[in-house]
Amino acid sequence: MKKTILTGLRPTGNLHLGHLFGAGQNYVKLQDDYDFYLEIADVQALTDNFNNPEKVRENIKEITMDLLAIGIDPKKVNIFIQSKIPEIAELTVFYSNLVTVSRLQRNPTVKSEIAQKKELFGNDGESITYGFLGYPVSQAADITIFNGELVPVGDDQLPLLEQCREIVRKFNSIYGDTLKEPEAYLSKTTRIKGLDGNDKMGKSLGNAIYLVDSEETIANKIMKAVTDPNKIKKDDPANPDVCMVYYYHKLVNDEDSLKVVCSECKKGARGCVLCKKELINKMNEFLKPIKERRKQYEDNPELVKEILENGTKIAKDKAKEQMKKVRKAMKIDY
Ligand code: TRP
Repeated sequence: MKKTILTGLRPTGNLHLGHLFGAGQNYVKLQDDYDFYLEIADVQALTDNFNNPEKVRENIKEITMDLLAIGIDPKKVNIFIQSKIPEIAELTVFYSNLVTVSRLQRNPTVKSEIAQKKELFGNDGESITYGFLGYPVSQAADITIFNGELVPVGDDQLPLLEQCREIVRKFNSIYGDTLKEPEAYLSKTTRIKGLDGNDKMGKSLGNAIYLVDSEETIANKIMKAVTDPNKIKKDDPANPDVCMVYYYHKLVNDEDSLKVVCSECKKGARGCVLCKKELINKMNEFLKPIKERRKQYEDNPELVKEILENGTKIAKDKAKEQMKKVRKAMKIDY
């Protein structure tokens, strides 16, 4: 029997290179050998976008097309919409008894998200809703309702996985052995740096290259990428290791060209403008097949709808089966 993989994405924006080179690569790699459930986590997205439902709605289609564009095969992966499976919400309610408020407040991922909100809104946490604080509980339900054994994620999600494992242990110890403890599956490159040199590429940081960016947008973004600050003149030797342009060359360029870029940069035989222009070409070449694949789905929205409906149907059947077991174990199978 194939092992089960479950992972999720909040539909709040398009996929960028950080997703593609991070967990995205793993999705594509793992899809052949596992029973794979990929959740479009609209309920989770609403925990901090409840006042912006149009954004979540629109991004369900967008993110699905992005996933198909990077090579997720809908025949192998069940892509489904979280809110269409109310059993997940039901399980979340049962799990909410098994986790304390203080444990959630201490969860490092939740903690840093709360800190960010405080910075943004400048209050002392009054904007933190019950739903937001509880989203790790809902995520534990996402994973375990499918018996997810492996969870491909970025390392920022590890505390959420740990929280899930704790809930599983607590459940099993009270109601009997019913649930599996999931494990994280991390990518080698868990994090892609932003164009500004920030350790993380992210939407809120404004330093991302999106798969859907036009060639012109990509050119503009790369022209502004951070290079070695000690290089003043075109012919100054520079250090490629502190240059974001070189960093992205490494992601999309071939090895031979890369050696040339590196040695010319070190010798001062390559200006940054030329180097950026070369990267723009390579990046656009790299993204071309992804965009072409995406276009087929953009031109055929019915097909995207069908893929989501099929994935959701299969996921729903599996969730229903698991809820039967859960209800029986909890003695609420009246
Ligand atoms: N929290 C994840 C994120 O923000 C998305 C997510 C929702 C998820 N449900 C999940 C990830 C279940 C792994 C497993 O990216």
